[in-house]
Amino acid sequence: MNDMTRIHPFLDGKTKRMLIGGKWLEAASGKTFETRNPATGELLANVAEGDAEDIDRAVAAAREAFNGPWSKVKPAQRQLILIRLAELVEQNIEELAALDTLDMGAPITRTRNNRNRAVGMLRFYAGMATALHGETIDNSLPGEFVSFTLKEPVGVVGAIIPWNAPLGSSIWKLGPALATGCTVVLKPAEEAPLTPLRLGELCLEAGVPPGVVNVVPGFGETAGAALASHPDVDKVAFTGSHVTGQAIVRASAGNLKRVSLELGGKSPDIVFADADLTQAVPGAGMAVFANSGQICSAGTRLFVEQKVYDEFVGRVAEFGKTLRIGDGRDPDTQVGPLVSPEQLKRVTGYLDIGRQEGARPLSGGERLTDGPLAKGYFVPPTVFADVRDDMRIAQEEIFGPVISAIPFTDIEEVIARGNKTQFGLGSGVWTRDVGKAHRLARAIRAGSVWINCYQAMDPAVPFGGYKMSGYGREGGVQHLEEYLNTKSVWIKTD
Ligand code: NAI
Ligand code: MG
Repeated sequence: MNDMTRIHPFLDGKTKRMLIGGKWLEAASGKTFETRNPATGELLANVAEGDAEDIDRAVAAAREAFNGPWSKVKPAQRQLILIRLAELVEQNIEELAALDTLDMGAPITRTRNNRNRAVGMLRFYAGMATALHGETIDNSLPGEFVSFTLKEPVGVVGAIIPWNAPLGSSIWKLGPALATGCTVVLKPAEEAPLTPLRLGELCLEAGVPPGVVNVVPGFGETAGAALASHPDVDKVAFTGSHVTGQAIVRASAGNLKRVSLELGGKSPDIVFADADLTQAVPGAGMAVFANSGQICSAGTRLFVEQKVYDEFVGRVAEFGKTLRIGDGRDPDTQVGPLVSPEQLKRVTGYLDIGRQEGARPLSGGERLTDGPLAKGYFVPPTVFADVRDDMRIAQEEIFGPVISAIPFTDIEEVIARGNKTQFGLGSGVWTRDVGKAHRLARAIRAGSVWINCYQAMDPAVPFGGYKMSGYGREGGVQHLEEYLNTKSVWIKTD
């Protein structure tokens, strides 16, 4: 383990402890778990394994901070903390990017590219910290009353995140919490806990007071479930699978805590024959192959107008074959490994299901085990042609680099078929016809519609789901509302 510091300064061979009340602690049980590099299988660190008792300690610390010193901190001070955190993330971005790459496998070019987004989000929430306000509202009661609203932080927030973008998803929870004056217990994914822990260190360095941000790594069924059901947690902000989202809603019922859910998808990406196909080929390809398909809003149901179906789908398959697959640390790598052996099993399981259902793989379709790839969990960009709407590979979230390509003939038909899914997170439309673009933008039942692009994101623009992709929005002004209560105040003045 000692030589790991050469690989990354955070990997010093010591057990990575949890952050509770401003202190770095072992788990109450003394237990630890391993986190490994999915490109090589090598051990990166042992991590304190939080469970219900640690969640109790962290929630108590968060409550104490919320009721105590943090409630007196002025918006401008919270803003300053967020500005400092943005600066620290920017200064340390190489290290944070490398940690994401080591822990979950994404190519270093991708994790480095997160710089603008990560720093931009923190700056956005910093700006919002001094822009929150209630309203004075005229009322019609007889007599004289003044009525106005106050915006107040909801309180202690349990934040539960997945492994597919540890830095970004941590910031997407911590940013709005710090801006609004909430306190947080962050439960990273067991597959990739390292960056959230490093971010905890940077929070302390930025001046976040003890107890305001707590980071408790551990497993979903223990630490996660304890946080979701905790009677003293006011809100849970969750990103992950829809099945776990449903468990969280059930667990929230005990104290009717607020819940926001950013869940999975099976997003339609619709290519019309009139599109600029030269742009649409890599656009539709990377809508699924980026991050090895481990993106909630990946455009995995590729609907292509019949006239150009064979040509277009063939070109996307060829495009996929040009992508360089390998260890994410190599700056030439474009597609890294899947995050874990479980995820590999799940994705290769769907590759088998696709073939059994009669879909035709044009590229990829099998795990890669050549040379050094054998040690990691590598699946190449895969395009299945001849996919029908009722196949499981057209309905279920695979979370791997797998496109299900489906032909269509007209616009009404593709609207109906595109919407025939339990999910509603992302969607894409490729066309030069502005009328079609506007029609589709309204007709698709999903939280985001990307036209002649895919996966565009900005801190000021809301993101979230329809249907079983969840509720609540992250990003934009609406995100702050998810962390606020509205209180109405009446004063009789006559
Ligand atoms: P998951 O939804 O089970 O895990 C996400 C987070 O929830 C992790 O921090 C986990 O520890 C926690 N968790 C798990 N069970 C919990 C419970 N009962 N109570 C509270 N927290 C709990 O997703 P997982 O197991 O990592 O991946 C399984 C599949 O879910 C993937 O193959 C993919 O299809 C989907 N997924 C979708 C994501 C998205 O962004 N849409 C993200 C991660 C997974
Ligand atoms: Mg799980």
